[in-house]
Amino acid sequence: MIYDSIVIGAGQAGLATGYHLQQAGLRFLLLEAGDEPGGSWPHFYDSLSLNSTARYSSLPGLPFPGQPDRYPRRDEAVAYLRSYAAHFALPIVTGARVVKIERAGRFFRIVTADKGCFRTRTVVAATGFFGRPNMPDLPGQGQYRGQVLHAAEYRRPEPFHRQRVVVVGGGNAAVQIGVELAQVARVTLATRHPIRYLPQRMLGQDIHFWLKFSGLDRTQWLDEQSMPVFDTGKYRTALAAGRPDQRPIFERFSADGVIWSDGRHEKVDAVIFATGYRPHLAYLAELGALDETGRARQSRGESTAVPGLYYVGLPRQRTVASATLRGVGADARIVVNHLRRYCQVQQRTHARRATEAALKRRTRVWVSRGHELMGLIGLMTLALRQQIAMQRLAAPRLVGEALVRSVTVSAGFLGLGHAAALYAPNLMRS
Ligand SMILES: Cc1cc2nc3c(=O)[nH]c(=O)nc-3n(C[C@H](O)[C@H](O)[C@H](O)COP(=O)(O)OP(=O)(O)OC[C@H]3O[C@@H](n4cnc5c(N)ncnc54)[C@H](O)[C@@H]3O)c2cc1C
Ligand SMILES: NC(=O)c1ccc[n+]([C@@H]2O[C@H](COP(=O)([O-])OP(=O)(O)OC[C@H]3O[C@@H](n4cnc5c(N)ncnc54)[C@H](OP(=O)(O)O)[C@@H]3O)[C@@H](O)[C@H]2O)c1
Repeated sequence: MIYDSIVIGAGQAGLATGYHLQQAGLRFLLLEAGDEPGGSWPHFYDSLSLNSTARYSSLPGLPFPGQPDRYPRRDEAVAYLRSYAAHFALPIVTGARVVKIERAGRFFRIVTADKGCFRTRTVVAATGFFGRPNMPDLPGQGQYRGQVLHAAEYRRPEPFHRQRVVVVGGGNAAVQIGVELAQVARVTLATRHPIRYLPQRMLGQDIHFWLKFSGLDRTQWLDEQSMPVFDTGKYRTALAAGRPDQRPIFERFSADGVIWSDGRHEKVDAVIFATGYRPHLAYLAELGALDETGRARQSRGESTAVPGLYYVGLPRQRTVASATLRGVGADARIVVNHLRRYCQVQQRTHARRATEAALKRRTRVWVSRGHELMGLIGLMTLALRQQIAMQRLAAPRLVGEALVRSVTVSAGFLGLGHAAALYAPNLMRS
């Protein structure tokens, strides 16, 4: 079976793509490494709530359920995504980790770890970024004997009770984890730059209302800004009160702690890197789809290196909302439109090539028939000349005899020629 499209990943980006592929009437499949659809949401920390209200957190075709002005919790997002997959009965193969994608003529061959291979005209990479945390390697890090982890591994504050913890980073994860941990531990937020805040609500409306209302969500300007911290005032107040305190990032690790920029050494039990993520696309490396840093060579979701390869859910792929619940559906729709056109062009090109090949085959048959006819005439002439020479044209009867013999001999050759023309190509093919 050859699919029109195979989507890698069944998180929100893969599901939104599946919805649009279904609407377009294409033959498709989603391959998901995990046991269930829904993506990385079940692995986010326990206290996480969406930073947009339910009203601004829907994928295409199915509104986020419940009261629209609340901020749904992590597990509600998980439930919504799973119900989305079930509602549209999207064809998902779970437990299918894609390890490699190759070109196989005009198709792609997708190789999975446990579920075999699949063939498809187009591929959509929708594997998010949570699988590839950005883990800095700071001076002295190798000699540090305390605990080092990435925010991707952090779940809840209890294991850090009464510890001395440094959280590195100034984004949403760093601030939220830092403030939460500061209730049970002594915490410092270590940042490269001052933290930038964005009010979560303005004039009684969620910020996403204003972003949409003003059209800012779709502007290049917003796309170029680094991600600010959404805040109702809670985080600014906590940091102002020193819970956690905030400092410029330390100079280096020591064996049991860190050395701050003023030269002071401090013992530290754990360092949590809330330093963001990178696109999770290693399975595309052999296709030549990535640049030297492992990023996709793409423009607005279309690979600029490999025709037929697409992306949905890359951070800032098209707008600042590309890797969010509210923004991924619009990107998926655009990508599916491109992909459908690519399939149509590919099928038309293939049909034209098949017609040209059939025409060439027919021409070859006529040419070979012409050769046979010329051979026949040649043989008849030879046979006739031989008979004439032998019998010295004794009587008209002899001419008739000579003609009959030469026709018999030539018919034999003709039969052989036909048999060869009919069976030789089949023999060569097998
Ligand atoms: C802590 C945190 C909080 C966030 N909060 C919000 C928020 O409030 N609102 C918002 O809109 N966005 C939020 N985001 C951003 C974004 O919505 C999520 O990261 C979301 O999970 C991205 O969805 P995705 O489908 O692109 O990727 P993922 O959810 O990561 O899904 C990718 C899927 O691909 C699968 N996969 C990976 N590799 C392979 C492979 N080789 N073969 C087969 N399958 C594979 C994975 O198993 C996974 O199921 C948050 C992100 C983080 C990290
Ligand atoms: N629902 C929620 O409330 C919620 C919560 C958490 C995360 N999220 C979302 O999840 C996504 C990821 O968020 P995130 O906070 O994990 O990552 P992020 O937004 O990419 O922020 C990463 C932070 O780490 C810093 N950093 C990166 N490399 C560093 C290094 N080598 N040394 C020191 N600092 C470094 C960055 O600083 P520079 O600016 O200096 O590069 C930045 O402050 C975002 O889309 C975010 O909106 C949402």
